[in-house]
Amino acid sequence: MTAAEFREHGRAVVDWVADYWERVESLPVLSTVPPGAVRAQLPASPPESGEPFPDLLDDMDRVIVPGLTHWQHPGFFAYYPTGASGPAALADLLASGLGVQGMLWQTSPACTELEQHVLDWLAGLIGLPERFTFAGTGGGVVQDGASTAMLVTLLAALHRASDGQVARDGIGSGRYVVYTSTEANCGFEKITRITGLGSSAVRFIQTRADLSMDPEALRAAMAQDVGLGFTPVLVMATVGTTSTGAIDPVGLIGPVCREYGAWLHVDAAYAGVAAICPELRWIHAGVAEFADSYATNPHKWLLTALDFDACYVADRGALTQALSVLPEYLRNGASESGAVVDYRDWQVPVGRRFRALKLWAVIRWYGAAGLREHIRHSVALAQQFASWVRADERFEVLAPHPLSLVCFRLRGDDSANHELLDAVNATGRVFLSHTKVRGAFALRLAIGGTATRREHVAAAWALLAEHASIARHRLGRGDQIDAVSPEIG
Ligand SMILES: Cc1ncc(COP(=O)(O)O)c(C=O)c1O
Repeated sequence: MTAAEFREHGRAVVDWVADYWERVESLPVLSTVPPGAVRAQLPASPPESGEPFPDLLDDMDRVIVPGLTHWQHPGFFAYYPTGASGPAALADLLASGLGVQGMLWQTSPACTELEQHVLDWLAGLIGLPERFTFAGTGGGVVQDGASTAMLVTLLAALHRASDGQVARDGIGSGRYVVYTSTEANCGFEKITRITGLGSSAVRFIQTRADLSMDPEALRAAMAQDVGLGFTPVLVMATVGTTSTGAIDPVGLIGPVCREYGAWLHVDAAYAGVAAICPELRWIHAGVAEFADSYATNPHKWLLTALDFDACYVADRGALTQALSVLPEYLRNGASESGAVVDYRDWQVPVGRRFRALKLWAVIRWYGAAGLREHIRHSVALAQQFASWVRADERFEVLAPHPLSLVCFRLRGDDSANHELLDAVNATGRVFLSHTKVRGAFALRLAIGGTATRREHVAAAWALLAEHASIARHRLGRGDQIDAVSPEIG
């Protein structure tokens, strides 16, 4: 593709994306294609000769779009959002066009230094202490996701707990154990398998009434393990659990970690970016004093589009000692001078792309004030939604909801809730996901997508209220179906 052809097709692609964002609301949020339908429309073998680029864009409309679940639809309320935005998409294009690979400072100084700088900016914006920045003893690195942040920080913790032996000899017969709450993200258990610790090394600590980790139960589990000859390596606290958004008491968990010499990692994948707003910074209570590492995903709630996890360590030496392997072919004067950061030592792959451009573009376009406005808008909508749910006596709110996730259900048994969820999702106008809260089936409505406005949340509530009557009627609870008129103030 010549530069002239790139200009021509590039403009068409930008137009295509802009058109997609403008029309996405008219599409069904959840894809309705049956399994295999997308592949059935693709040729069995790749083309022998090149094809015109417009043919690919035609296939985007014909084959790909019908097979998409539209995460950028304003009625997408499932899981947690992945907020795409203009600046993030354009910066991704810049990164692809540059095609640099930043494994070493030397392989693209700007790729490394922009990442250091932007992550220091973000640390300041969300109130992380100086020791997590390059001005202190630590620093940030962009990972693909929060699970990878768990992996690299667990390797650093194992390195510290074993005095380097794990990096040399592997886990061996070391009796290492790690802790997290029963509500933590499933990625943690997967990571223990990848590190060779295995699932049986994970102690799932029970939660308090608000679904946050119980620090006394943690202390008891650690004491018992130490008594049995195990070494507590790491505790992962969560600020904003996946299931309900619960916030573990880091300030109470930290002293327990200190007592037993365990590394404290804070997984704030979804919620951490909310600390950009001073009035929400309480979610990080205890992080500055006690955390050894911390991760949040701007690709969820900060308009940065997949993939972008900001992973911070307070002691960068622990991480690089755990991961660094130095072959002759990567030796260079800059690395040996000790004056530069080589991010290949902070992650799993050797190579890495220029992801920092994305967050740089997002922060510069919206400004800190614009980002705060986005977070506040989502939180206000969630509070409004929760107030509608509470005002309807057929429903109950199941968990605290200080941020942008609300967990709720119809009073009564699970079957009506299953039916309600399936019915609203089948409309194509919204997509909500579910979880279990204290064993009961619950609906989750997570706000934070780039295009979601008050009218979309109000429409979601109207649908839920309408279909609640139908579900209850079918199950014999007898609401007057035509008498339903949800109160939306
Ligand atoms: C609290 C929390 N931790 C971890 C994850 C997993 O994140 P990733 O997909 O970036 O590995 C999620 C995903 O939603 C999450 O909510």
